[in-house]
Amino acid sequence: MNFNFLHPSNRLQKLSPYAFAEVDKLVTDLKKKGIEPIDFGVGDPFDPTPEFILDAIKKGLEKHKNAGYPNYIGMKHYREKISEWMNNRFNVSLNPDTEITSTIGGKEGIFHFPLGFVNPGDYVLMPSPGYPPYKTGTLFASGIPYFYPLLEENNFYPDFKKIPKTILKKTKILWLNYPNSPTGKMATLDFYKHAIEFAHRHNIIIASDECYTEIYFDEKPHSILEIDQKNIIVFQSLSKRSCMTGHRIGWACGDEKIIKIFKQVKTNIDSGTPNFIQEGAIAALSNEKHVQKMNKKYREKRDIMLETLSSIGLKTYRPEATFYIWQRVPEDETSITFAKKLLQKCAIVVTPGEWISEPIKINQKTFKKHSSNDKNIKNRTKTAKIDNPGKNFIRFALVPTFQQIQKASKAIKSGIF
Ligand SMILES: Cc1ncc(COP(=O)(O)O)c(C=O)c1O
Repeated sequence: MNFNFLHPSNRLQKLSPYAFAEVDKLVTDLKKKGIEPIDFGVGDPFDPTPEFILDAIKKGLEKHKNAGYPNYIGMKHYREKISEWMNNRFNVSLNPDTEITSTIGGKEGIFHFPLGFVNPGDYVLMPSPGYPPYKTGTLFASGIPYFYPLLEENNFYPDFKKIPKTILKKTKILWLNYPNSPTGKMATLDFYKHAIEFAHRHNIIIASDECYTEIYFDEKPHSILEIDQKNIIVFQSLSKRSCMTGHRIGWACGDEKIIKIFKQVKTNIDSGTPNFIQEGAIAALSNEKHVQKMNKKYREKRDIMLETLSSIGLKTYRPEATFYIWQRVPEDETSITFAKKLLQKCAIVVTPGEWISEPIKINQKTFKKHSSNDKNIKNRTKTAKIDNPGKNFIRFALVPTFQQIQKASKAIKSGIF
């Protein structure tokens, strides 16, 4: 029998391997050698889902034992709870019937969203480094990703002025992600105002991935919906807030017109998150204590790692939110060589910045040589340089246990750096 026809589609072949699948492979390889690595790679909290949420899910199983397919936009009670929570948390008022829909976790919503708005050849703006489904969702919708770099010199914000007008004319969606993975940067209200002004001027939808607003250290992160809802959709998730990555539940909310089209996409794709899981999500959103407790733990872990990394002479950035540390590597290393060193010398797995960043054409101003009295000569030109904004960084996800973090700290301090 000839199995040569079993090729992945061209669309699939064009994609690079999912970055975190590569991290998984490295961990598996080490385990096969009998080494138990400390895994700072994938942003999946190892802490169990809080007991009270599991109890609500168990009760939900009984309550919904006769239910058929779940409602694809989420149970009314779940959407009402989201509306109440958004109001309490951000002072944002949302109609549960028209301005909120449930998702099967942030990833599902983010990946499928462009299908509702993007036609072949349309551009979607997204950060580099950034969460890979912004790109893959765009490609699957036959759109063209346009990456804006998140650079230290811009405070890890996009510089909208650098995006060519020709691209903006064909742009449908701008992805924002604050609190930002991987840089740990939070958005100020001024930044959100600036982004909204830019997007409205160019008729671009803002899709704001706010899946990390609940993991923060000092100030509470904002939602872009505090400023405006017009042409804006927000993606939220219970994965990180309530250690529910395995339950696959989140929501999208914002402009009614956008939500309506997004619901249309989802009716064609899925049948929603099971009702008993939604019961767990309702319980999770009714409780803030577990979130505060978890944030306290992340702060302790963050502080140990920041102290450890600066003790070996590295320049550190203090994340304001999220459970990531975006760590600059030594000058003579790249993200990949340094990640390998950590793996080989300390059995520590991190994500090399290059794996979650896209090479970008960065316009550089250069100076032409000219004599000082030659006033007419144009002394500045622009040259394009391709660079990867993640090249000099590695990402630590602060998901290992406290004991593992202490072990990792010891290993780094006694490693040969
Ligand atoms: C930036 C970002 N957005 C969204 C998500 C989606 O998470 P989930 O699909 O578990 O809700 C993740 C998960 O790692 C993420 O890092």
